[in-house]
Amino acid sequence: MVALMTPDWLLQRSIPRPAILPSILAADFARLADDCSNASRLVGHPVLHVDVMDGHLVPNISLGVPVLASLRRAMPEAFFDVHLMIDEPGRYAGEFAAAGADLITFHIEAAPDARHVIKTIRDSGKRVGITLKPGTPVERILPFVPEVDLVLVMSVEPGFGGQKFMTDQLEKCRRISPILRGDQVLEIDGGIGPGTIRQAFDAGVRWFVVGSALFGAADRAGAATQMLGSLK
Ligand code: DX5
Ligand code: ZN
Repeated sequence: MVALMTPDWLLQRSIPRPAILPSILAADFARLADDCSNASRLVGHPVLHVDVMDGHLVPNISLGVPVLASLRRAMPEAFFDVHLMIDEPGRYAGEFAAAGADLITFHIEAAPDARHVIKTIRDSGKRVGITLKPGTPVERILPFVPEVDLVLVMSVEPGFGGQKFMTDQLEKCRRISPILRGDQVLEIDGGIGPGTIRQAFDAGVRWFVVGSALFGAADRAGAATQMLGSLK
């Protein structure tokens, strides 16, 4: 494993860096807790990526507060990385915090007053992430980077799992990675699998969201082992 500083807020939860975060969007929602526990075991830690979509900011609807609350009850020790693909993230952040989110990421496109959203999430006692769609220039988020715990680069158009990795988004990772402090994390989401994870690592990414390449694999254990092996 590559030697890297791991921020205290992850060390306290025994979360390694680099880390693979299973995206529950690709799980079987009828047996969600089982799928999440299983995926956590395969990647070596209970850190899960939860995609919330409202049908407005992105053209799809996924899940909301009650599902997160149930998952929190089923997995009290898990770290839930909640990706809000919704309009008015500040309006709903408190509910997701109360339901069990550990970190809440919002889209810059949905936040005319990003500073207020950051403060709202912080005031709820949770870690803060900021993200942007593939078509949004990285300059839009740069003023806010010093104020967040995590920067998420979307490597597909948000809304659906199973899409093709957008290699051109790695440029954003290369821009952001050098300006992050040791207590901040660079995450990537979309199209990550055995064939793409190393490119993202080499661009400075340390948290890798993986949906279909894990839950959709015929051999989930093999896929996880292969991806983890690529990060050494
Ligand atoms: C897309 C979501 C992703 C999605 C990734 O809008 O934010 O988290 O689950 O899925 P894969 O890994 O299949 O691209
Ligand atoms: Zn996501």
